[in-house]
Amino acid sequence: MLILFYSKTGNIRRFSNKLTKRGFVCKDILEHPKVEEDFVLITPTHGFGQIPDAVQLFLRNNLEHLVAVASSGNKVWGNDLFGKSGETIADVYNVPLLHKFQSQGFESDVDIFIERVLSLGKMD
Ligand SMILES: Cc1cc2nc3c(=O)[nH]c(=O)nc-3n(C[C@H](O)[C@H](O)[C@H](O)COP(=O)(O)O)c2cc1C
Repeated sequence: MLILFYSKTGNIRRFSNKLTKRGFVCKDILEHPKVEEDFVLITPTHGFGQIPDAVQLFLRNNLEHLVAVASSGNKVWGNDLFGKSGETIADVYNVPLLHKFQSQGFESDVDIFIERVLSLGKMD
């Protein structure tokens, strides 16, 4: 499964690098504004629980291939806003929210994310 990410301050890029080392293909949405295959999106949360503008634009152009979402955030923003962008995308576009993690995530977050991506194929 292709992984697409947006990373403004580098945390998700670092998370994605860990996925790459585990054999996943991860691409930056800014370098791949239009894709033709199914993907899982990883997004940060910005500005009081908001979906970043770049992610919203990307989704408008690639919605038909969105399979699932995961989000990075920080719990200093409070439980209600933590990783909220992923929750919103899951709700609005009716896709599963695979995981929410803090900052660049721990190895345990990478494990959870991979396990859930791999289980997507078994959910049909
Ligand atoms: C201006 C700003 C607003 C943020 N707002 C939230 C928020 O509402 N909820 C949250 O969980 N994290 C919030 N964060 C934290 C980021 O989502 C978190 O640091 C994430 O790992 C950033 O990913 P990136 O470094 O790949 O861009 C915010 C960060 C910044 C800089």
